[in-house]
Amino acid sequence: MEVIICENTQQIAAKAAEAIAVLLKSKPRAVIGLATGSSPLSLYDQLAAMYQAGDISFAQAKAFMLDEYIGLPPDHPEGYRNVIEREIASRVDFAPGAVQGPDFQAPDLAKACVEYDAAIKAAGGIDLQILGIGSDGHIAFNEPGSSLSSRTRIKTLLPQTVADNARFFDGDEAAVPKHVMTQGLGTIMEARHLVLMAMGSGKAEAIRQIVEGPVSAMWPGSIMQFHPHATVLVDPAAGAKLALADYYRFADAHKPSWESL
Ligand code: F6R
Repeated sequence: MEVIICENTQQIAAKAAEAIAVLLKSKPRAVIGLATGSSPLSLYDQLAAMYQAGDISFAQAKAFMLDEYIGLPPDHPEGYRNVIEREIASRVDFAPGAVQGPDFQAPDLAKACVEYDAAIKAAGGIDLQILGIGSDGHIAFNEPGSSLSSRTRIKTLLPQTVADNARFFDGDEAAVPKHVMTQGLGTIMEARHLVLMAMGSGKAEAIRQIVEGPVSAMWPGSIMQFHPHATVLVDPAAGAKLALADYYRFADAHKPSWESL
């Protein structure tokens, strides 16, 4: 696992955007995993700017979303499909239908979850997966206690996550759906490169636990310690509780110029 303590959100976004740009140049048909929430928003701004400048194209690429709420009307602005459309898909040149998410309107949601994993596999798997982290250590919506080998499935959110996400629903916790469809930890671990972005002191304990704590279903993101190519990008506040912070800074300062993320 590579941990990089960046100066600020812009630097985190720039590093993640650069990794996607390098991928798209070497593999125009790349499959990218997209996260929702506030953490990747500055990354999506940078990708849109790079596309506008003619530096990158998603025309041949595909994307898969991490997760989706169950129970919101299809046109709800906070439905993750709509968020992804607004924040990134509509701002770059993905082909129609190239961005997929769990089918939250399917008559059989459990079957739709199985089909979603199959669709990722049929696309060749995810090359680079963008991740955020919940204050309880969740990645996608794999809440504490999630099976470390779980597949895409329906989960119930923790009250902590409902409270965290109420900010997207005018602070109204009652308006936040309690159920979601989410890629499983086993699904996420099959992506070839994981890039996690975390900012702010509210993420510091989760970052400490998933990077330096024991691998445990109680801190689901800790499964990333088993991934052969995982990058954790944090700002100083999110990295404040890391025991090896000085080492991560030393390693980054001495990173060979030929080595990308
Ligand atoms: C969203 C997702 C979640 C968020 C996490 C952090 O697709 O998978 O795991 O990444 O809840 O959310 P923010 O970035 O809003 O702090």
